[in-house]
Amino acid sequence: MEKVLVTRRIPQAGLEILEPLCDMVVNPHDRDLTEEELLEMSAGCRAVLAVLSNRIDRAFLEARPEVRLVANFAVGVDNFDLEAARELGVMLSNTPGVLTDATADLTMALLLSLSRRLVEGDRLVRAGGFQGVAPLFMLGNDLAGKTLGIFGLGRIGLAVGQRARAFGLRILYHNRRLNEEAHELLGAQMVSFKDLLSRSDYLCINAPLTAETRGRFDYQAFGRMRPTAYLINTGRGPIVREADLVRALEEGLIAGAALDVYEYEPQVHAGLLGRDDVVLSPHLGSATREVRDAMARLAAGNVAAFLAGEEPPNRLV
Ligand code: DGY
Repeated sequence: MEKVLVTRRIPQAGLEILEPLCDMVVNPHDRDLTEEELLEMSAGCRAVLAVLSNRIDRAFLEARPEVRLVANFAVGVDNFDLEAARELGVMLSNTPGVLTDATADLTMALLLSLSRRLVEGDRLVRAGGFQGVAPLFMLGNDLAGKTLGIFGLGRIGLAVGQRARAFGLRILYHNRRLNEEAHELLGAQMVSFKDLLSRSDYLCINAPLTAETRGRFDYQAFGRMRPTAYLINTGRGPIVREADLVRALEEGLIAGAALDVYEYEPQVHAGLLGRDDVVLSPHLGSATREVRDAMARLAAGNVAAFLAGEEPPNRLV
């Protein structure tokens, strides 16, 4: 039987698929593997079922030529060196589709938390600060009639747009390509990056991390946004320069931000921690039981297909 490494315990739904098919080694710790451990534990493995924190770069692929497939337990693949894998003939796969709705739901949850000051209100109540409803107490902002800008309109961006339409938001988006579905389903308008910044009341990031998107939301970008605008990031942390975001909030360039992902994850910029105009969640985009089971089945299914000599259904490279 071929040896397969699972770099972090995944739901049983995935392990059950692999167990009868291979000699499966699962990371025994309740933490990510270090680079050294990953290298050591993948010795002799034909496939690795990896998580986002595993850097699958040229050095790893060259050091472990016996690994012929790396199946990510994620839709994002910024932990992969796609070019090196292509050159070295290693197959890579991901888990698309199954986490679209959950991530869009979380994006709306964060947007609503900001607009209705939910987390700030929760803190106030717990601290004993609630003294009764009052006409000017803790006012937030409506959604209906406002504009949502979506940076990166793929599957998740589209699902965010559908939800946002139900709340009465108008949709603008900035994307590499025109998205016909967005025009048909959402009446959305594609705009330049500059226009997205200056015209959005709420701006959500749903783009993948690429050389093009890395650091795109910097001080200059925040300077183009409305002082009443809110930023929501459920895409990838390094798309936002956190130090610039802190400065923009301090200077009132934007009204607030909600982040589910971080530039130096799992570290969070200290300047964000004490702010009432910021909502922070710990990378929960795909964190529902149903979605994690589905991701486990997809990732394990890719490994199973590979072991059977078939094409992994979600092969990227
Ligand atoms: C993904 O799948 O890319 C998510 O960010 C991980 O939950």
